[in-house]
Amino acid sequence: MLFTTSFLSLAVLASTITAAPAPSSPFPLPDGYPSPSPNQLKQIEKLAGGSLPNGPLPTKLTPAAIATLQLIELNEAFEVAYFTSLLHNITSHAPGYELPYPKYDRDFIIDAITAVQNQEQLHALGINGILKSAGAEQIAPCEYKFPVSDFLSAITLANTFTDVVLGVLPQAQTVFGSDGGDETGLVALLGSVIAQEAEQNGFYRTVQHKVPSAAPFLTGEGPSFAFTFLKAVIVPGSCPGADLVSKSVPTFKPLTVVSKPGDRNETVKYSVEGSVAADKNEIVYLSGQNLPVVVPIYNVKSDDGKSTFEALLPFDEGFAKGLTIAALVKGTDAKFMSSSQVAEKTVYGPGIIEID
Ligand SMILES: *[C@@H]1O[C@H](CO)[C@@H](O)[C@H](O)[C@H]1NC(C)=O
Ligand SMILES: *[C@@H]1O[C@H](CO)[C@@H](O)[C@H](O)[C@H]1NC(C)=O
Repeated sequence: MLFTTSFLSLAVLASTITAAPAPSSPFPLPDGYPSPSPNQLKQIEKLAGGSLPNGPLPTKLTPAAIATLQLIELNEAFEVAYFTSLLHNITSHAPGYELPYPKYDRDFIIDAITAVQNQEQLHALGINGILKSAGAEQIAPCEYKFPVSDFLSAITLANTFTDVVLGVLPQAQTVFGSDGGDETGLVALLGSVIAQEAEQNGFYRTVQHKVPSAAPFLTGEGPSFAFTFLKAVIVPGSCPGADLVSKSVPTFKPLTVVSKPGDRNETVKYSVEGSVAADKNEIVYLSGQNLPVVVPIYNVKSDDGKSTFEALLPFDEGFAKGLTIAALVKGTDAKFMSSSQVAEKTVYGPGIIEID
């Protein structure tokens, strides 16, 4: 058993924090994370199915590479907390996480999530190790609020945040390859992490009875979309690491996707806090590795500081199954050649659309 009694109550507290004065954290974990001893690290590596890379680490990184790694670390630390909580819920038979036979193979699922929880610890320890080696500030775990309370919703959310991560890690590789630093080693390292997270995602999709591989080319976005999405699960004020990343990565106001579209041309309903106008804003979609697709918005209704509106999701135009990102941008009739051009004009986003 991985969990002590004191950890259990702290985990429950951390996930139900609303207005407590001093939110508590599940860290450090009983296995020593985020600062395991050498023996504890050996045990994490055993459960993860392999070790941290043992080659030399970079001793110099560009500011762009440091900011990129700090954002990745922020996400890896969240994933450690998430899968720790999920594993705890499953192993303690929490309501909603019972995994009744024969619908679920509970032992297999526990093996899978145990591997993931330990693998994520090594991702997080590895990235912080690189930051440390280069004399850059490391990122500590924060407190989080998870908007799920049953197994299938938890796996569905894991699928979505892994999609978002898979969308931004290739951009991190681009940074390492083009920022003028000597960071080509990180391109290959990140490549192995992308493949690893994609293996996880095939499992999350299979559990939901989705085809394991969503599309031929997965959707890319960028750091601002990924960070905005991540910030929603971080307890405000609990996270110096998020404050640090905020200095280099801007975030957007939330764009809520109200309806759940299918795999065909369809009208999607959106809502935002604030006012929008059909002659001042439009929706841009990022899907697969295609150029961004721009569509007008219509049926705009504003009331009490909130707005709702609609826009076509032209899925039949070559959209990818799995993740599509919607962004409400300022201006109309723009042409976008990349997700970073979209990010520059984005006011509200990312609208998260998952097409089965
Ligand atoms: C674990 O269960 C608690 C209590 O229901 C819940 O708040 C939390 O979101 C769950 N965690 C996960 C990852 O499903
Ligand atoms: C889907 O919508 C696009 C954009 O409006 C349109 O060009 C295309 O003909 C539509 N396809 C189908 C199958 O309805």
